[in-house]
Amino acid sequence: MQFQDTGRNNIIELHNIGQSYDGGQNWIIRNMSFLVEDKPGQGQFVVILGMSGCGKSTVLRYIAGLQDPTEGTVKVNGQDVGPDNRVSMVFQQYSSLPWMSVLDNVGLALKFKGVSKSERDDRAMDIIRKVGLEGHEKKYAQYPSLSGGQLQRVAIARSIIANPKILLMDEPFGALDIKTRLNMQDLILDIWSEFHPTILFVTHDIPEAVYLADDIYIMKSAPSHFVEHVHIDLPLERNRMTKRMPHYTELVHIVEDRMMSVSEMG
Ligand SMILES: Nc1ncnc2c1ncn2[C@@H]1O[C@H](COP(=O)(O)OP(=O)(O)O)[C@@H](O)[C@H]1O
Ligand SMILES: [Mg+2]
Repeated sequence: MQFQDTGRNNIIELHNIGQSYDGGQNWIIRNMSFLVEDKPGQGQFVVILGMSGCGKSTVLRYIAGLQDPTEGTVKVNGQDVGPDNRVSMVFQQYSSLPWMSVLDNVGLALKFKGVSKSERDDRAMDIIRKVGLEGHEKKYAQYPSLSGGQLQRVAIARSIIANPKILLMDEPFGALDIKTRLNMQDLILDIWSEFHPTILFVTHDIPEAVYLADDIYIMKSAPSHFVEHVHIDLPLERNRMTKRMPHYTELVHIVEDRMMSVSEMG
């Protein structure tokens, strides 16, 4: 598939990416481009699907500035990724600092920006309320003081406060039980309608992908690049009834078929 450069601003731009770990003998990623248009005040929900090992986490690491590609360019908000242009990431494994309270974890990015303690506590509490953790703010951000779902809420709150425009999520709900996972899907939709960020979300769960996404992009490996795009034309306002719509089921089947044909491509 080709990404059409619409001439509008892109919030995320990856151009002609190549990734080799052995000095160019083998290329894990080759000729990969990926554009996400900036829609200020609206945001968008982009889901990446692909087989294990195809490079989904690598793509998110480029955008978070945790890794540079061997070839090609990565831009976020039209700028090179760097200290002034940081985007944080929510991982499957809990990534908060367990020796700090929930409140201090959520306020950490503001501390690095030099925001005063009282202001960062106010702003952190605001987000802690939005992710449903009020009453837990003094607890250490560790298991089992907090459950898996609560720890992921901390991670989401930390990311949102650090950069409310972009949220990178790498299989964030993979370790959660099914009921917590379904609740977290709705939480992330609430976060989306509150802050309208651009969310880049990696999952292996196709029904989850269709429920959350505006657009799904499928990667193929050897060497990796994006091969399929499915626009999810469900109503913007989603809730559990969306999953009862015949068109939802139809889209799940379409995405499943595309995934199967991509994996048959090798
Ligand atoms: N440091 C490394 N050295 C060699 N290969 C690596 C390294 N890091 C990642 N890879 C390879 O890059 C590919 C993509 O990895 P990853 O982005 O983690 O895939 P995904 O998240 O889609 O499962 C995998 O095949 C992995 O083995
Ligand atoms: Mg991964």
